[in-house]
This record gives sequence, C-alpha cells and structure tokens, in this order.
Amino acid sequence: MISRITIDKIFETARVEEVIGDFVQLKKSGTNYKGLSPFTDERSPSFMVSPVKQIWKDFSSGKGGTVVSFLMEHEHFTYPEAIKFLAKKYGIEIEETEQTSEDKEQANERESLYLVSEFAKEYFHTTLLKTEEGKAIGLSYFKERGFTDETIKKFDLGYSPDSWDAFTSHAIKKGYKLEFLEKTGLSIVKEEKQFDRFKGRVMFPIVSMSGRTLGFGGRILTSDKKAAKYLNSPESDIYHKSKVLYGIFHAKQSIAKEDNCYLVEGYTDVIQFHQTGIHNVVSSSGTALTSEQIRLVNRLTKNITVLFDGDTAGLRASLRGIDLILEQGMNVKICTFPEGEDPDSFSRKNSLEELTLYLEENAKDFITFKASLLAKDAKNDPIKKSETIHDMVNSIAKIPDVIKREVYIKECSRIMDISEQVLFNTLAQVLRKEQKDASKRAEVPQEAFEVISSEKKIEKVDVQFQLEQKIIQLLLLYGDVEEDFEELIMETDEKGEIILKPEIHKSRVFEKIYLDLQEDEIEFMNPEFKDLYFEVVNRFNQNPEAKAETFVTELNPEMASAVTNFLMEEERYSLSDWERKEIYVKKKELTIAQMVSETILNLRRHLVSQKISELSEVMKQEDNPEKESGLQEIVDYISLKKVLSNKLNRVL
Ligand code: CTP
Ligand code: MN
Repeated sequence: MISRITIDKIFETARVEEVIGDFVQLKKSGTNYKGLSPFTDERSPSFMVSPVKQIWKDFSSGKGGTVVSFLMEHEHFTYPEAIKFLAKKYGIEIEETEQTSEDKEQANERESLYLVSEFAKEYFHTTLLKTEEGKAIGLSYFKERGFTDETIKKFDLGYSPDSWDAFTSHAIKKGYKLEFLEKTGLSIVKEEKQFDRFKGRVMFPIVSMSGRTLGFGGRILTSDKKAAKYLNSPESDIYHKSKVLYGIFHAKQSIAKEDNCYLVEGYTDVIQFHQTGIHNVVSSSGTALTSEQIRLVNRLTKNITVLFDGDTAGLRASLRGIDLILEQGMNVKICTFPEGEDPDSFSRKNSLEELTLYLEENAKDFITFKASLLAKDAKNDPIKKSETIHDMVNSIAKIPDVIKREVYIKECSRIMDISEQVLFNTLAQVLRKEQKDASKRAEVPQEAFEVISSEKKIEKVDVQFQLEQKIIQLLLLYGDVEEDFEELIMETDEKGEIILKPEIHKSRVFEKIYLDLQEDEIEFMNPEFKDLYFEVVNRFNQNPEAKAETFVTELNPEMASAVTNFLMEEERYSLSDWERKEIYVKKKELTIAQMVSETILNLRRHLVSQKISELSEVMKQEDNPEKESGLQEIVDYISLKKVLSNKLNRVL
C-alpha cells in the first residue's frame, strides 16, 4: 500500500491545472480555467478547473473531482495508478507502508507471473514475425484472415512453435522459473517433463484495462476434430477469466468517447472491428458474460450494444447476459447479423460506413428485440406470446430505476398489445417474489412498486431530493461560517394563544443544520446524501473551521465527486460571458442565515405535509377503528404546518 504521507504529499504538490493542462487545452477565465470537455464532443467550453479549490468540473457530462479523479476518469487509471502517475510527474518518491512478509511474498509472486506472461507475449510475437516456421504457418494464417501488419502489431498476435517444449525450454534458459511457467499455465508439468500448452497455435494475448498481459487464447491451425479450436490460459493469480474482457485496453478511450460499447463473442470479432475502424468493442471470449465484466464497462459508459451471430442457435441462452446488464442500471441494445455472418465476417466484407450504418439501423432496444424473436418463432401462438411477455417483464424487473421501468412497461404494452395495468401488476408480482427471496432482499428497493403506480409519489420524491440537496450544498459552502440565527420560541400569551418570540443565537451553520434536523429526527431519504451528510458533519465536528475543499481529497472517489459538484455549482455562471456583456447574475439577496433557516423549514414543512396526506389516506378506509385518534393527529399536524409556515414568512 502507498503510505498516507506519500498520498498527502502528492495532493499538496500536484497542481490540478497543470496536470489537466497536459490533456485539455485550458484558458484562463477569471480565477478559473476553462476548456472544451474531454468527455463529450462540444463546441463551447463547459469544462472548468479551479486552481484555488484544486478541483475540476465538467458541466456537460456532470463529472468532476480532484486531480486524481481526473486521471481516473480520463486515463481510466485505478487509484494507485493515478497516484503513481503523479508521483512520477512531480518526482516524488513513493513510500510503501509496511507489508507483512506474507503480503510481500504474494506481491512478488504475482509480479513474477506478470513478468513470465510479458516474456511469453514477446516470445510468441517475435516467433510469428521473425522465424521461418512462424512466418510460414502463423503469419500466413493471419494474412489469410485479412489481418494487416499494423493490426498484428497492435494486438501483439503471436505464434507458438509446433514442438513439445520449444517455449518452455527457451524461457528456462532465459532464467524464468518453472514454478511460474506452470502457475500461468504456459507450461504443463508432468512427471519431471514439461510441455508447451499452446504448441502449434496462433496466440492472442489477453491484457488488462491498464495494459498488462494476463493470459492467452490460442487457436489451433490444423483441422484436428479432437482438439479444441480455441484454448485459453487456465485461471491463475493474475488471470481470472470472469473479470477480464478481451480488447478493453484498446477500447477504453473510444468507449468513453462514443459513450457506447459493442460486445462481441470472440477475439477475431474484436480485431476485425478495429481494423474496419470501430474501436469501442470488447469480447467475453467464449464464456458467458459475468457481472464483473459488465462492471468494467460500466466504469466507462452506461450503454452496451450486444452483437449476435446470424444463427439463432444458442441465442436464448445468451439472453441471460442482457438481464445482468440491466441489473447494473445500464442500457442494452441488441443487434443481430444476417444468416451465416458473425461480426468478424460481416465487418471484413463491409466498409466502415456500411458497418456503421448497419449497426445504427439494426440495433434494437431489448424489448423490441425480444418481441421480434417471438415474431420469428410463432406470432399467433398465444402460449408463446404469453411466455414472451413474462420474459419481458422479468427483464424489466431487473432495471433498478423506477422511471425507466415505467417507460419500458408502457413500451411493452404498446408492442405486445396488452394493457399497462396487467403488466404493472405482473411486475409488482415479480418484484415481490424477488423481495421475498432472502438472498436478493438487499438489492431490491423497498418502495419499488409503490412508486410506479402513482405519479404523485414521484413528484414528492423530487421535492424531497431538492431540499436535501440544498441542505448539503449549504453545509459544504458555509458549514464553518458563524451566523446569527433567529430562533422562534413558542409561548402562550395572556389570552392563551400561541405566539412566537424571537431570540437570537450565534452558531456555526453546520451546528444549526445538524441540531435542527436532529430535533425533528429528520433522516435523509436519498442514501447517497445520507452518507455524505454524516461524513461532512463529522468532519466539521472534528474541526469546526474546516473547509470542504480541504477535506475533499480524503473522501472516497464517489463522495469527492459529489462534493465537487456542489462546490463548483457556484462557478457555473462565470462560464458564460455574462460578466463581459455586463449582464450580472443577480446575487443571492438572502443572508446565509436566512438561506439555512428557510431550507430547514421548507424540509420540515414538506415532511409534515407528507404526513398529513398519508394519514388522510388511512382515514379514508371506512372501517378504521382508530378514526378518532387519527383525526386528532391530523389536526395537530395541520397546526404544526401553520406554525412552520409562519416561521418561514418571518424568515423571508
Ligand atoms: N471461440 C472460443 N472458443 C471456441 C470457439 C470460438 O473462444 N471453442 C471464440 C473465439 O474468440 C473466436 C470467436 O469465438 O474468435 C468466433 O468463433 P469461430 O468463428 O468459431 O472462430 P474462428 O477462429 O473465426 O473460426 P472460423 O475460421 O472457423 O470461423
Ligand atoms: Mn469465425
């Protein structure tokens, strides 16, 4: 692990404007810098860097954060990779925290496996290009497939000689230990003898997101029916086939830029697509798609287009992968190729323009796609039709976002010509069943199906969301500021009527917010806000004079990015040329104290209104035994709401 001291030193030394300046052309604009967003194609700049706060914000994609999060977003580095990059740039020596000897041994072992794999990649590649056998057999095969020299180089394709231990004995001669050759699966050891696993095959190195060689796929060249056409490296400490995607290293930039990822079946599909000019493509290499693989893509885009071969055999089995994608809140499209074609053969026969057009015209939304499968099978068969509808609803149930779910239910209703109500009921059934399923309970939101059936509810969620957001924003911007707050103390006058008596209390903004919310036992509904709220309050508690921009580097990346969003919201206006055109953005006229009090009161009033309508709903039920006490409760809440409204009027 990199030590905290090193990390702090890097954050102190690195200048966000310098680091980003290497990737984006920045122009000074007031106290900030601005430039064109590196994440979208835009013509007027909405990307902003604040040298004072040492953070950045891209208003067109919504991304933002610290210098490290920029490198993670733009270069797709992991956290340690970003830290190491900065250390190198600023000449800072990395200090590692003490590792146990076991840790060290394991790190060393993994490092050795990487080294052996790297060596093997070079060896196979050189053998392909430089030896007689490699050229005659391997290279001529790739040429026949239509791969150019450039492509062969880009993907480091190779050839493993057709003799029992050519590679293994060469590696040992070069000083690589048999232990690691065996652990990576490059060599097979049997009774004191060693063999090459990939003897006589053309080689496809499989590399990680950051470009390290993890394993290999090898294709046989003879038509031996007994041997597998493709052979892959076995699982090892560095190669976990469920966690890698072939092509991700070469595709990552393009996936983020195009905001879409094509998913194909194999090595040759990926390579042929690249050669034709489409770079945002990856493959799960012969195995069924896993959640971990989808997560790799999810870091880069929310959109996946799955490409299937022309023959529909085995297609239904692959449909499971689609549900996995939906589960992660991603959007899925599906595109099939004409009978007898796969992405490899199709892209070889067509130009970039033709291929792009084909993908655009034939990629269908998963609902439309499932419907079209039915049309092929048996359009007028009611049993098949109902099976398909169930299948669609099951997929829709996987989508975490309730609004998206509703949109898809409507779409399904239209395509399949069945009432929305029936579909909503079926969906609720599916969700309830899943909820009962203990193992899944944690993943299915409680309020899931209530929200769908009532539009009012969605509206409510929104008001609450905005108020919670506002509170966090005030906390971050002014948490440390001391202000005079007017507290209204409830008293009864001579006539026995309730009056509000103002009293002034000095307090820091964070204390005021925290104590007021606690008094009413108000909890944030939005889980991200809730975590962030506690984290930030906690920071202020430890150091009341803290500034959000100083602790942002200590938060986890998601929280850091959320905080940046809030902090930079202020700066947004200076992006337009308003100042120069002398159109001033109206300054907020309320004092900080007023804004804080107003927001808290609004939230309280909102929660009380919600309570009132909930209770009224319950009262509507005819045979309610607690009618009387319930009514009293409503009356109490209504008068509380009045008090809150009065307070609010005073504040403004
Ligand atoms: N594949 C695999 N394992 C297999 C068969 C196929 O991993 N046993 C993957 C490979 O990644 C391959 C892709 O599926 O790139 C396409 O399969 P296929 O067309 O059978 O392989 P090709 O090498 O294109 O063979 P052919 O020349 O016969 O089309
Ligand atoms: Mn093929």
